[in-house]
Amino acid sequence: MEKRTKVACVKGPLPGPRSRALLERWQKVEAQCTGFQAPVVWDRARGVVVHDVDGNTFLDWTSGVLVTNVGHCHPDLVRALQQASEKLLNNYECANEPRVLAAEKLISVTPPHLDQCFFLSTGSEAVEAALRIMKRHSGNWEVVSFYGAFHGRTYAAAAAGGLPGPKKGYGPTLPGAIRVPYPYCYRCPFRANPDSCGLLCLEFLDDVVRAESTGSLAGVIVEPYQGAAGFIFPPQGWLKRLEQWIRARGILFTLDEVQASFGRTGKFWALEWEGLQPDLLCIGKGIGSSVPVSAIAARGEVIGVLGPGEMSSTMGGNPVCSAAVTAVIEILQREGLVENARRMGELFQARLREIQERSPYVGDVRGMGLVFGVELVKDKTTKEPAPELTRRLIGLAAEEGLLIGSVGVFGNVIRVAPPLVITEAEAHESLDLFEAALAKL
Ligand SMILES: Cc1ncc(COP(=O)(O)O)c(C=O)c1O
Repeated sequence: MEKRTKVACVKGPLPGPRSRALLERWQKVEAQCTGFQAPVVWDRARGVVVHDVDGNTFLDWTSGVLVTNVGHCHPDLVRALQQASEKLLNNYECANEPRVLAAEKLISVTPPHLDQCFFLSTGSEAVEAALRIMKRHSGNWEVVSFYGAFHGRTYAAAAAGGLPGPKKGYGPTLPGAIRVPYPYCYRCPFRANPDSCGLLCLEFLDDVVRAESTGSLAGVIVEPYQGAAGFIFPPQGWLKRLEQWIRARGILFTLDEVQASFGRTGKFWALEWEGLQPDLLCIGKGIGSSVPVSAIAARGEVIGVLGPGEMSSTMGGNPVCSAAVTAVIEILQREGLVENARRMGELFQARLREIQERSPYVGDVRGMGLVFGVELVKDKTTKEPAPELTRRLIGLAAEEGLLIGSVGVFGNVIRVAPPLVITEAEAHESLDLFEAALAKL
């Protein structure tokens, strides 16, 4: 057992005076359309520790939004960015050495059948590319996706999504999106018992496709676990059975690992847990561990459907972001961060379950590696969602010195996703802070 020394320290009520002043200035000039956050203005961060502009210190369970997998401002990443930026910042779609190295490095860690990649800037952009390639490759235009899915806020990605937020007031979405239930077992849409249902939701897929498809299926896009919907993890075997369903129809399989990859679930890729072999993989967030880079990886034959001039991105593959990709993969490998995520994940799993037993509000705890959802309810029997308590808990946790955020179809799920560098002492301290905040609800 490591020695436990306290890291978090909040000196007074939040927001502190400098944070308050900056928040007021910010609210005047930038549209306030982002999600609910604790009133903390970040100043600097290293590893799992964040300092605000008022000199308060916090432990971080957000990783930005599952981005800083190698820890905030990892010195090797910062150095790689500095070195690259001194030489060359952008040369559009021309080759540059960091880009070649990054592509080689990325392909060295993808499953062997995914032998080509392409660099873009955001997760949404990677999803748009995958959707386009699935349609282009098949000549078909329908894509199966899932209730609760979040694939981004751009048009096709939002249409494939199963949450209202990105589509609200936007008029009709793209035709061809066929949405089916994801196995949200805590709130099963079929009111079935997950232990005995035989994955009823997968059987229902046939019914929906029979009713909705005109016979023009291009493929399926799915998250290995649903992030924005509330960290919903499918039961063991569900993804494999879905893959078999896809293969039986000869259509393409896109796995959206924008947030699940780069060690987050305790394997480098979430697909490794069930040996999945998607045709296309969407990658984002952790791949740059802070800088805006995303990618798709694909079977060469699939991505090869795009000819010269058919895909580009102004910032995609720039030398600085490319240097980040190489540095991040090297850091993950050198520091054994995927193993650390698995090990620390077991600690989190055990302690969060104890907290669930003790708290009247924690209805469900689910996750693996260093990504968990803690679902808050007003009553454990009725499972009535508790979004107001969730918002209050975000503020209370910050006052204890812990930064958390929320997600969920009902806005009642705390996201537990610290940087993968978290130590045992930091894990215990952060869990103590979380429980102290819960006790104040
Ligand atoms: C699974 C998944 N896909 C796509 C996206 C969109 O990524 P971005 O916000 O970088 O466009 C996200 C973002 O949260 C995501 O979680």
